[in-house]
Amino acid sequence: MPLIQVKDLRVGYNVYEGLLKVLDGINFFVERKEKVGIIGESACGKTTAMKAIMRILAKNSVLMGGKILYDGNDILRMNDTQFTEIRRKKFSMIFQDPSAALNPVFTIRQQFYDIIRYSSNQRMTKDMIHERAVELLKQAALPEPERILDSYPFQLSGGMKQRVNIAMALVSANELLIADEPGTALDVTIEDQILRLLKKIVEERRISIILISHALGTIKHFVDRIYVMYAGTIVESGPTEKVFKNPKHPYTQLLIDSVPKLTGEGVPEGIPGIVPSYLNPPHGCRFVTRCPYAMQVCKEKVPPSYEVEQLHYASCFLYDNGENGKDE
Ligand SMILES: Nc1ncnc2c1ncn2[C@@H]1O[C@H](COP(=O)(O)OP(=O)(O)OP(=O)(O)O)[C@@H](O)[C@H]1O
Ligand SMILES: [Mg+2]
Repeated sequence: MPLIQVKDLRVGYNVYEGLLKVLDGINFFVERKEKVGIIGESACGKTTAMKAIMRILAKNSVLMGGKILYDGNDILRMNDTQFTEIRRKKFSMIFQDPSAALNPVFTIRQQFYDIIRYSSNQRMTKDMIHERAVELLKQAALPEPERILDSYPFQLSGGMKQRVNIAMALVSANELLIADEPGTALDVTIEDQILRLLKKIVEERRISIILISHALGTIKHFVDRIYVMYAGTIVESGPTEKVFKNPKHPYTQLLIDSVPKLTGEGVPEGIPGIVPSYLNPPHGCRFVTRCPYAMQVCKEKVPPSYEVEQLHYASCFLYDNGENGKDE
């Protein structure tokens, strides 16, 4: 049984104009110790999906359907006591903005100690808490842990703050770490260091990670399996190498082509058109308005997921050979 299994998840947001139908029945899973990547343009619903797993969706969100199974139990229907156990011991998430999760008016020491205390079942002495904090800061490759502990967030660089966030996340991430564009707000060399550090940590701890990143070149070497999202749907998934070598969904093909090539073969063009409005999304395939291969059926029906090669799936009618598609 996978560690996490998301089934037909539908999430919307209430806004002044009506209901934004963002996640349109997405399915995905994460195995134990697996490194999974999610890619897709801005606003396609990546963060929404992750916040649903952590049960931290905004107040105006609407859960319209679906399940998120953890070890067979639906996270979305757990009571607070059951879910608190998961937050304290199993899952953690780090965000794009390294400052967002840190409180500016407290030192790192105060915040870190609180998290360690919150996550422990036993009463810990101050020395034990301190020891644990230092050990985790070292794992996050922060030199001089004492100085870091005495700092306020504003006294640390962006890269250091993100390492502190990683150290704090490790208190609870005993099974799953969700990293939502953890390096995007930092400069490129620091982003690279942060991703390498995450890889090393999750492999050493033998935990799972879901990594969201716009840096396709990096994610390619980081994750075992990848999901491609477009406008609240998963359009393609499979082992990373297969998806990059042999992208099947027209959206994935365009997305991979729009990455600047280091060989400098001209300027990438980006994908023409824009993500459709979530107020009135297309009825069939949500990519239909931008797809160079759009057919009549694409406007009418939601494409099922077809297995295009072993363990590699694409939700696109181009791969319909008369049989019904298989839903993962
Ligand atoms: N609280 C909210 N209220 C209304 N709309 C929201 C809310 N949160 C997110 N959205 C909208 O939902 C859509 C998906 O947002 P989400 O943040 O999940 O996308 P994303 O794929 O993470 O994008 P990015 O790559 O920019 O982080 C966007 O159109 C966004 O504007
Ligand atoms: Mg996001």
